[in-house]
Amino acid sequence: MKTLIVLYSYHHNNTEKVARVISGVLNAEIKKPSEVNLDEVGEYDLIGFGSGIYSDKHHPTLLELAERLPETSSQRAFIFTTSAITSESKIASDHNPIRDILLSKGFEIAGEYQCVGFNTNSFLKYFGGMNKNRPNAYDLDKAEAFARKLVL
Ligand SMILES: Cc1cc2nc3c(=O)[nH]c(=O)nc-3n(C[C@H](O)[C@H](O)[C@H](O)COP(=O)(O)O)c2cc1C
Repeated sequence: MKTLIVLYSYHHNNTEKVARVISGVLNAEIKKPSEVNLDEVGEYDLIGFGSGIYSDKHHPTLLELAERLPETSSQRAFIFTTSAITSESKIASDHNPIRDILLSKGFEIAGEYQCVGFNTNSFLKYFGGMNKNRPNAYDLDKAEAFARKLVL
C-alpha cells in the first residue's frame, strides 16, 4: 500500500509529531503541499492530509492543494489534525472543508483523527499557552492505533 502524507505543521510542530507516528506504521512518505507533484499523486493508494487547525480548518496550502488534485475513483484518503480543543462534533466541523473537497474528487475517506496540541495563539502566549506538552504519549498511541486501522 503506497502511502503519502501531505503535512503542514508550523505553530509548534504538533501535527508533525502525529504525522511521524502514522508514517512509521504505514511506511509513508511525508511531503509539504509545495513538494507534491500532481502528476505523481495517482501512484499512491492512500493519501493523508494533516495540519493544525487554523481558523476552523486545515491550513490554506493544504486546501488549495486538495482543490488541484486530479479526480480519482480508486484512492483512499485520511484526514488528521491537532487543535486547541477537540470533540467528535469539532472533528466533523474542522475537517469539513477538506473532506468536502476530497469527496468531490472521488476519494474514499478511510478515517479521521484529531488530538489537542500546544497552542500559544493570540493572548494565550501571555499565560504560557494551553495544552502544554501535547500531543503526549497518550495522543500518539491513539494516532498509532488510528494508523493501524487504515491498513487494508
Ligand atoms: C493562527 C492560529 C489559528 C488557530 N485557530 C484555531 C482554531 O480555529 N481552532 C482550534 O481548535 N485551534 C486553533 N489553533 C490552535 C492550533 O490548531 C494548535 O495549536 C495546533 O496544534 C497547531 O498545529 P501545528 O503545531 O502542527 O502547526 C490556532 C493556532 C494558530 C497559531
